[in-house]
Amino acid sequence: MNVYDSERIADTLRADGYTLTDQPDDADLTVLNTCHIREKAAEKVYSELGRLRKIQAQRSAADRGNMQIAVAGCVAQAEGSEMLRRAQNVDVVIGPQAYQDLPQLLRRRRDGRQVAQDFKPHDKFATLKAATPARKSPPTAFLTIQEGCDKFCTFCVVPYTRGAEFSRPVADVLEEAKRLVDRGARDITLLGQNVNAYHGLGTSNTAAGLAELLYALAQIDGVERLRYTTSHPRDMSDDLIAAHGEIAALMPYLHLPVQSGSDRILKQMNRKHDRALYFDIIDKLRAARPDLALSSDMIVGFPGESDQDFEDTMNLVRRVKYAQCYSFKYSPRAGTPGAEMSDQVDEAVKTERLARLQDLLNTQQLEFNARCVGRGMPVLFERRGKTAKQVIGRSPYMQSVYVTMATDDAAQQALGTMKNCEIVHSGPNSLQGRMAA
Ligand code: 5AD
Ligand code: SF4
Repeated sequence: MNVYDSERIADTLRADGYTLTDQPDDADLTVLNTCHIREKAAEKVYSELGRLRKIQAQRSAADRGNMQIAVAGCVAQAEGSEMLRRAQNVDVVIGPQAYQDLPQLLRRRRDGRQVAQDFKPHDKFATLKAATPARKSPPTAFLTIQEGCDKFCTFCVVPYTRGAEFSRPVADVLEEAKRLVDRGARDITLLGQNVNAYHGLGTSNTAAGLAELLYALAQIDGVERLRYTTSHPRDMSDDLIAAHGEIAALMPYLHLPVQSGSDRILKQMNRKHDRALYFDIIDKLRAARPDLALSSDMIVGFPGESDQDFEDTMNLVRRVKYAQCYSFKYSPRAGTPGAEMSDQVDEAVKTERLARLQDLLNTQQLEFNARCVGRGMPVLFERRGKTAKQVIGRSPYMQSVYVTMATDDAAQQALGTMKNCEIVHSGPNSLQGRMAA
């Protein structure tokens, strides 16, 4: 979502005459869009600010004018004016639900350093819609349809930094999707912190769920692939599960985080689901779409996690068999209930468990990729590879597929198109294909 947000932030600034540069040395303004989910991500902000301080010093020594710095995103939301105190070179601190006001805050900078932490999602999306310029879209595009979360898992900062659930109206989403397709997008990923809790205002003035929205999006000419992320098991409704068997454009890949395989820990995490419910959903999904590739997020070392709890996670993974999966050591976050729990797990234990879990997940990913060899599948080509004639695309299951075309010209021509390929080789993180006869 930060990728999507960063593009929108750039859009809002264009109206004030800014253009993008990838050279911070030349920038009049640097915006750091930040993540607060784990401590490591949050701490990166301060090392980046230190790096920018050096650039600023060199510039003022050379009398080349100032570079302003704005910190956006969830670290900005969480720290607010505390960040101004910790980092003297920050001009504006702006949370993820207020960034439409960035141009205005920069103009106000002369009256002092600025902090904005408002939650105004309605206002934000209305402003952003007006600011979106006509520019080409890559073949794969993101579209935020929902933000915030009401679930309050005890490890997670999202409900505090992104705020309460908000869903954009169906009409707005359809309009943005049409615009993306007109500009070249063919594969659209719908985004939301809790995307399957989507309940936007529908066309008949009642709330529409994610399934209804997907059916409407699939009707749009040019929408060839649809995906959505991230979902919560509790919001995996029967009509959404059925949609996986019915909507051809809905890709056979689903990121459905479970976090832990232990019922005891799931309860401590306030996940509002247990193993049995998760397995039940997976079974139903696979009945609807037998080739569905599954992905998840896992946390090891949540407070109180015993060896047995961890084994429960391992055997959940063995039973589900993931195509790919993200896994993390629990990171206590200030202000969340988990950080206050007394039975924190030793760092060394977390490290050992994470290594074992990742071994298993890597094996599963390797096996999933290997099962693709010999199969034909459509690949949507997105970018050129490192070698001449090479082009890289995405399979229906989200894998990167490398294909070497007959000529460099053919590789260039393939960009933005979908072609049937035969998978000839698999690796841990990608597939190799060749053009099907
Ligand atoms: N520590 C470790 N991982 C976390 N996540 C969220 N909060 C934490 C935390 N405090 C993980 C969850 C979530 C993903 C986006 O990040 O697995 O699904
Ligand atoms: Fe965080 Fe997801 Fe839980 Fe919401 S559902 S609190 S975003 S982990």
